[in-house]
Amino acid sequence: MTDARPIAIFDSGIGGLTVLAALRRRLPAERFVYLGDTARLPYGTKSAETVVRYAVRAAGFLAGHDAKLLVVACNTVSASALPALEEAMEVPVVGVVAPGARTALAVTHGRVGVIGTESTVASGAYGRALRALDPEIDVVARACPLFVPLAEEGWWDHPVTREVAALYLEPFARGRVDTLILGCTHYPLLRPAIAAAVGDDVRLVDSAEAVAAEVEALVARRELAGSGGGVRLLVTDAAARIDRIARLILPDTAVNLELVDLPD
Ligand code: DGL
Repeated sequence: MTDARPIAIFDSGIGGLTVLAALRRRLPAERFVYLGDTARLPYGTKSAETVVRYAVRAAGFLAGHDAKLLVVACNTVSASALPALEEAMEVPVVGVVAPGARTALAVTHGRVGVIGTESTVASGAYGRALRALDPEIDVVARACPLFVPLAEEGWWDHPVTREVAALYLEPFARGRVDTLILGCTHYPLLRPAIAAAVGDDVRLVDSAEAVAAEVEALVARRELAGSGGGVRLLVTDAAARIDRIARLILPDTAVNLELVDLPD
């Protein structure tokens, strides 16, 4: 028995493509439909109420594509809107915060840094997820709002990005944390600049692999495995820049962005 319905993946922009890449490596026989709400990006500077409203609308749109499960490949949405999405959707919903927290706890010696959008940091979601698993854990969080536009610009290891990273990440350098959660799906794209700013002794945690492992287990447990493969990339604004960046993140995929409108 196979289930030919696609797995839906959602982010505000191209950051979630880092999660899609990990999912495709683990689940090559699955069909994926990816939605980047590029017309409304950034989500991370907006209020939680607005993020919930945008997320519920996007999830409803993806439900209309007959998705068998929804992967919320956006920390901002996972931090603020997961309960609303679980209520709105009839299929399982997988977020990125819990898998990222579990991965960090598996490698840390007790001092964890978290970087993310303003919205993610203000939500306190990572602190809660980490302390629920280990009440003794020491957590320091900082918003890095310029990282998303730098990633979307394709300046992944640009001198300006290295300079911005050095300024933002100063509180995490020189051994003040031993593990740093990249709490935004755009940030793995800036990994070399982030690693240079915090130094070799700090473990960087990207939740993409952990999310992909969780989805793989869920697909097996619920007997949802598909056959066929393939990717559809839907965006709400198809600027040439988005197309260029998508090709860089998914070099093995035939990138063909489809412009869509999200109904109210
Ligand atoms: N990729 C999103 C995240 O993981 C943030 C991008 C945005 O601010 O819209 O939080």
